[in-house]
Amino acid sequence: MHRAGETGGMVVTIVGSQLGDEGKGGIVDRWSEAADIVVRYQGGDNAGHTVVSGGTATADGGTATASTETASDVSTEYKLSLVPSGVIRGKTGVLGNGCVVNPETLFAEIERLRERGLDPDVRVAKRAHVIFPYHRELDGIEERTKADSDFDIGTTGKGIGPTYEDRAGRRGIRIGDLLDPDVLRDRLEYVVPQKRALAESVFGVETGDAFDIGRLYGEYRRYGERLADRDMTIDAGAFLTTKRDAGAEILFEGAQGTLLDVDHGNYPFVTSSNPTAGGAAVGSGLGPAVVGDGAVIGVMKAYLSRVGTGPLPTELGGVKGQTPGYGGESADEVGEANGQDGDAADERLATHIREAGGEYGTVTGRPRRVGWLDLPMLRHAARASSFSGLAINHVDTLAGMDTVQVCVRYDIEGETRETVPATTERWAACEPQYEELEGWSDTDWGAVVEKGYEALPAKARAYVEFVSEEVGVPIAAIGVGPDRAQTIVLDDPFDR
Ligand code: IMP
Repeated sequence: MHRAGETGGMVVTIVGSQLGDEGKGGIVDRWSEAADIVVRYQGGDNAGHTVVSGGTATADGGTATASTETASDVSTEYKLSLVPSGVIRGKTGVLGNGCVVNPETLFAEIERLRERGLDPDVRVAKRAHVIFPYHRELDGIEERTKADSDFDIGTTGKGIGPTYEDRAGRRGIRIGDLLDPDVLRDRLEYVVPQKRALAESVFGVETGDAFDIGRLYGEYRRYGERLADRDMTIDAGAFLTTKRDAGAEILFEGAQGTLLDVDHGNYPFVTSSNPTAGGAAVGSGLGPAVVGDGAVIGVMKAYLSRVGTGPLPTELGGVKGQTPGYGGESADEVGEANGQDGDAADERLATHIREAGGEYGTVTGRPRRVGWLDLPMLRHAARASSFSGLAINHVDTLAGMDTVQVCVRYDIEGETRETVPATTERWAACEPQYEELEGWSDTDWGAVVEKGYEALPAKARAYVEFVSEEVGVPIAAIGVGPDRAQTIVLDDPFDR
């Protein structure tokens, strides 16, 4: 039995504090060096990230970046969306029971790594749910339907929501079911006619191959055979406990972010899983005392970005098709139309941050929405996940501004709020109250990393210390560039 304080390998959980794309991958990559097992506990192949050997990396609506020296070719780039990035460093990668797994993506990613000379060790929980082609089709159908009433979320289209729906509806098919031909056939025969009826009768869409039981059975049975042949399936909780008892260090790699959490995010503009730290226990089978006894690092950007729709109180400017009510005017047009220089200045600032921070999806090229840092959001995230440390990324991106604004609290109908309200409508009505801090100039960030924290420009130090104090969580790391080497580590959770 495990209780907090017992011996065993260290457990570190990396959680997104904002809306995804906070640079979690770079932090995971940095600390996975010390870990033996890297575990994903939620989400699926919606967490796209590019892993570049020895250099910079970017994320696309995903878990951000990682780099590696273990790859054979120093200029190699790896695109991953499902497999934990630690496998590139030769670590065991686990997809926990809280994940939804598209086997086609899983094997394609493993094969691509093999072709590059790696031998990835990936284990998949038998309790994890399987994404089928009908889930992806239904994801698209539902988004198109919601768009008619402006309720579309801007999902990644990977079938994430419909798969979690089936899990909660107790009609899902799990990885363990792929291993048994009779169980697989029985489950498909039960669920597929329901899905076909939903698509055809409710949404009025013609269905094809994706809803064909015979085809699905053949294809998914073969995936089951491959999983069995390679001995890839596990009881995740039992596997991780045995390894940890033997001293293995475990790193949980959260995907997405707190405000995309189905419980703690701004519902309904969320993903369908729990990126917050509680998800690491539920989604892996290691108990909450084990997760809580380790370190929980909240990763954040020094500002905000968001992919998809939904409110964003501190947003600067807007992105057409994502920012509610935004028409896509240029900075000059905004200024002229409103006679408000402030709006035009916000547009220019948004463009500047977007360019400096590389806030574009790497695959789609879609611009991300950007905004000033929102402390009520961070207080909410710190509370929901019991952060023991903060990793603050993109401090270099804000360099060169005379002043930076930080939202310290909200005003809503004359009332002051320190954290995010529980309903999305109330959150959208919040007026950010800003505090202005002095900006810092651009500098040789490489030299800063070499010399350490004290070499950060004094005003940048004042900024991160202000954030840490307001949120009540100490700083564990500061990112001043996209490469994993461009991180100043103040407190390495594995170094205890
Ligand atoms: P889904 O996870 O595909 O259902 O998408 C739901 C919402 O989460 C959408 O707003 C997506 O843009 C957002 N989302 C999903 N995964 C990520 C991610 O890894 N980073 C940032 N946003 C994400």
